[in-house]
Amino acid sequence: MRIPMIAGNWKMNTTVTEAVALVREMRGGLDEIKNVEKVVCPPFVSLAAVKDLLKGASIKLGAQNVFFEEKGAYTGEVSPLMLAELCEYVIIGHSERRQYFNETDEIVNKKIKAVLKDGLKPILCVGEKLEENESGKTEEVVTGQVKSSLAGIGYTDKLVIAYEPVWAIGTGKAATSQQANDTIGLIRRTVSGLYGKEGALNLRILYGGSVSAANATDLMKQSEIDGALVGGASLKANDFVSIVRQAAQVKK
Ligand code: 13P
Repeated sequence: MRIPMIAGNWKMNTTVTEAVALVREMRGGLDEIKNVEKVVCPPFVSLAAVKDLLKGASIKLGAQNVFFEEKGAYTGEVSPLMLAELCEYVIIGHSERRQYFNETDEIVNKKIKAVLKDGLKPILCVGEKLEENESGKTEEVVTGQVKSSLAGIGYTDKLVIAYEPVWAIGTGKAATSQQANDTIGLIRRTVSGLYGKEGALNLRILYGGSVSAANATDLMKQSEIDGALVGGASLKANDFVSIVRQAAQVKK
């Protein structure tokens, strides 16, 4: 019912030349795999070049961030209107943006509203920090983030949520598939409170945090997990193609 999605968040990696080379390396392998939505999210500066390379391919493009105003005197920012010409998805509220750039749920909420207005599809990231996890606050933190980020936003089939526990990002220590499944189930119940049962059943919720070619099958076997937001492993063509292939196998 829900089409699985594997998205690669390249973060602040690859020059334009390297981005083009990486897409060339993975394009053929990814294109062969059906029934999984495949998305790559390179840095802003590479979006146009990658878009050209993906013409005719079944691979979609996303950005890693966006500002919430459409245009104006906001030096250095990139607007939803600009991105709408280049890509389909936008990652919003990644924990690295919350940590290093002071993004709050309120800002995240404004960004989601802004991108929906311009027809883009937000990938909303939520997840608890290590100390919150250890003090038993995961449920409170994650449900709070979901509710605040989606405040005043009606149901839309454009929304994707990614559950990324901060302690699992870039650490090589993924959540266990059981932990990830449980928290994603909790997110779905929270969304059900906002958009009703059907809205929640239609929503894709990804897991992110040290997803690799070695743990993808195990994670994808979980009923609540609809795919993955992949960081480090999305920069290695073979690993990324393998993760997508595993998702296609498990979810068929
Ligand atoms: P890693 O896969 O490198 O842990 O990063 C996950 C992530 O932050 C994806 O958005």
